[in-house]
Amino acid sequence: MNTSEKSLEKGLAFFWNKNYASPGRETNGLMQRFMANRAKALVYNHQGLGNYFTYRHAIPILGIDPQEIFKGGQLLLPDHYVDFGYMWSQAGPPESALQAIRDNVTEETVAPYPPDLFTSLRDAAAEVKFHRPRSDSFDVLGAEGAQGGIGYTLLAHLEPGDEVIITDPSYMHFYPGPGIAGATVNAIPLRPENGFRLDPDEVKARINNRTKMLILCDPLNPFGTVQTREELIAIAEICRRNDVLIFNNITHSTHQTDPDAVHIPLASLHNEVDTDHVVSTTGISKGYALASMRVGFIAGHPSLLKAQAMLRMEITKIHINALGQHAALAALRDHDYVRRSTEIMRRNLGIVKQAVAKADGVTLAVEPRYGFCTCIDVSGTGVTAQEITVALFKKGFCVIPGDAMGEVGATKYIRLNYSQKDPAKLERFRDSLDDAVRDAQRGAYAAGVIDFFRKVGTARGQRIIEEIESRQARTRHIAAE
Ligand SMILES: Cc1ncc(COP(=O)(O)O)c(C=O)c1O
Repeated sequence: MNTSEKSLEKGLAFFWNKNYASPGRETNGLMQRFMANRAKALVYNHQGLGNYFTYRHAIPILGIDPQEIFKGGQLLLPDHYVDFGYMWSQAGPPESALQAIRDNVTEETVAPYPPDLFTSLRDAAAEVKFHRPRSDSFDVLGAEGAQGGIGYTLLAHLEPGDEVIITDPSYMHFYPGPGIAGATVNAIPLRPENGFRLDPDEVKARINNRTKMLILCDPLNPFGTVQTREELIAIAEICRRNDVLIFNNITHSTHQTDPDAVHIPLASLHNEVDTDHVVSTTGISKGYALASMRVGFIAGHPSLLKAQAMLRMEITKIHINALGQHAALAALRDHDYVRRSTEIMRRNLGIVKQAVAKADGVTLAVEPRYGFCTCIDVSGTGVTAQEITVALFKKGFCVIPGDAMGEVGATKYIRLNYSQKDPAKLERFRDSLDDAVRDAQRGAYAAGVIDFFRKVGTARGQRIIEEIESRQARTRHIAAE
């Protein structure tokens, strides 16, 4: 093993024993004997941790020492890297939230178990995020981020054999997550014809007697599209008639990137349509740049929240960290922060569009309307999103290509988190994207990408390998002529 492989192993502990010399998946004897099937389902899922391509996988391909990047095991990247990767807001946090944390670093706050949520925060979450006051038929439970909301909801409502309707592409965890409860996914491809969001008729056509849940991510990660009021009502009615629980993830709803767009939390439509079969979630990582607090909310009918509370008690206990709650409450009340950070998202999206206009073969998949994520479509460049991911990393830009989010855009989409405070970072991207594409077109990263997917060994990985190899064969054929 050479030095860079060794340091990769040390620097990226979350790769478990996997390095670039490991053959096949990491299923050694100990794992085979003691790993539960629900965990194995994740190991074998293309969107399970470590199986999809990210900028991190560019590190060994480029021969960079990972210790230089993830100093002391931190995920925060050094300043000369621009992080367009994972979805934490870089436009904050609000000073009000930091002050709330400082004001509450006391023995009384940190020593005792905190409640699931302080009443003031429970009320604020209901009203500010879900646009519906708490009542006998609607309440809010705490969770460790919106991701906690996802995990508990999947565990509380799914059983082996159930099917979950999701979109393709979607937030990466919607595909492997249901597997922990033994359920499978049925993905609706997003494309221009459905406006890159859920079409009620398509939802209806997908429902069968195994369908238990629809994941309605609105605003949608990765496109930032939103559902209309009419679509939401139609989807709620269809799912009610068929006993399908709707899981409405609204965690990207804070920033109205498009001034003409309207986002409606489905729970708030309770006077127009039955919403008792809707469980909603959101967090504070996107809206308020407080990802590290790990605070989130699950909302819905108390009869459904009961199952989630029972599970939470057994898994992580029913207490949400108090400093995080103080920060969350201050943030939810800070409307001025939301206004200012929304301006940042709008400005940045403008620069992303300039970057796309300057890069040959690159387009915006669809105009984002809320939040701060978008996908660029690189299908016109002739190379895969994974190869461009490596080329971008070489220039200091960290992105996640489409195989993390589904099959549809596996090699053509690159997802961008465009929430950076400093416009110079986006301008640098604007002035580098075209060069990165040209660099990838030289073909130097193809072997590294193929090697990665060979080791991952999933069906999607195999399709990506075939796509690259057939391009290489065509290129050789043309050169020979
Ligand atoms: C749709 C969606 N849900 C949940 C999460 C996780 O959020 P949190 O940090 O609040 O757990 C993300 C993060 O990217 C997301 O995009």
